[in-house]
Amino acid sequence: MADIELDNLVKIFPFQQVKGLFHRRQKQQLLLEQKSMPYTTNEGVVVLQKVSAKIREGEFVVLLGPSGCGKTTLLRLIAGLEDPTLGEIRFDGVNVNTLPPEERDVAMVFQNYSLYPHLTVYDNIAFPLRTAHMPREQLEQTVLEMAELLDMEPWLNRLPAELSGGQLQRVAIARALVRKPQVFLMDEPFSNLDAPLRSELRRLVKRIHGKLGTTFLYVTHDHNEALSLGQRILVMRDGMIEQDGTPADIYSRPRNTYVASTIGSPPMNLYNRKVWTTLDAAPLPREAETIGIRPVNIRPSPKGIPAVVSYTEPLGSETLVHLQAGQQALTALWEAEEAERILRGQTVTVSFPSEKLHYFDKNGIRL
Ligand SMILES: Nc1ncnc2c1ncn2[C@@H]1O[C@H](COP(=O)(O)OP(=O)(O)OP(=O)(O)O)[C@@H](O)[C@H]1O
Ligand SMILES: [Mg+2]
Repeated sequence: MADIELDNLVKIFPFQQVKGLFHRRQKQQLLLEQKSMPYTTNEGVVVLQKVSAKIREGEFVVLLGPSGCGKTTLLRLIAGLEDPTLGEIRFDGVNVNTLPPEERDVAMVFQNYSLYPHLTVYDNIAFPLRTAHMPREQLEQTVLEMAELLDMEPWLNRLPAELSGGQLQRVAIARALVRKPQVFLMDEPFSNLDAPLRSELRRLVKRIHGKLGTTFLYVTHDHNEALSLGQRILVMRDGMIEQDGTPADIYSRPRNTYVASTIGSPPMNLYNRKVWTTLDAAPLPREAETIGIRPVNIRPSPKGIPAVVSYTEPLGSETLVHLQAGQQALTALWEAEEAERILRGQTVTVSFPSEKLHYFDKNGIRL
């Protein structure tokens, strides 16, 4: 079974991988002395900075963060393809730091997963089972089960060159899952595909997770994908976890201004307390330095504060209304009918319900 614990993981890629140049002990000493975050070191690139998290057995966790924040590195550490510089990875309480990848019972699917071009879909999926010397009948049954689960029976006899990108990625998933790993890692598996296909495959992944009950860890930089897939989301930035919570936690109670400004489309409006009095007279908590409000919570209201419409952006059933209230630019999200007759340059009045406001202190931490 597989509960995964990441305990203060640090990963440093040396500038120059010269053997014996830096001793491990020296490296550890340096990090322990260095109290400030983020770590800086003259040894190399610090890619993960004390990452700690727990992933429970059977859970679907999404790792969300911008390019370069260390998502792939963290997956590679869990898979055993990379060693942590410091810290521990535990599977069910047992340290697996030195366990080779093939003994971890972990499968991984990447953005560009290459199948064997000369093998049919069937043989591609069967490959890991053949390597494991599974008896023929059982092998056949297992491959067919997997093909059924992923709706791919019609293409079993095709070669990879005869499939579309989305179909190829399904085969890759089937091949990775066919040995029923304890942990399934997916690294932006659908980022090369178009939007409708991505959402179709997301539904498929959710269904597979429901059926198999395997522990899933899914990497993405798309916050909508994270919100729709994850039972829990780890929001990462610069090699650190900024927030660990359910989609509802992350959306409704962002822990800091970074999370607030990356989740939601469009994200939360954030403004400084100095402009507050010009926006609304309601009293603010004394420590509140930054105030946040979601676009959907800025409402048209006859008794509200005046704002000039910069432009509108119709999205179909809803419309984004870009406003300028004094010095402050704000984005509101209204139903299409509410915004229908609004013109650029027009002054409207809007209200900010106080129960919908988010307050952050001078360090950007939620109050
Ligand atoms: N083998 C390596 N040697 C040196 N630096 C590396 C190595 N692998 C990754 N890095 C650096 O580590 C940082 C994190 O890389 P990583 O691939 O984990 O990011 P990521 O979050 O997966 O980004 P993306 O969304 O673009 O895939 C980057 O700055 C990258 O340049
Ligand atoms: Mg990556």
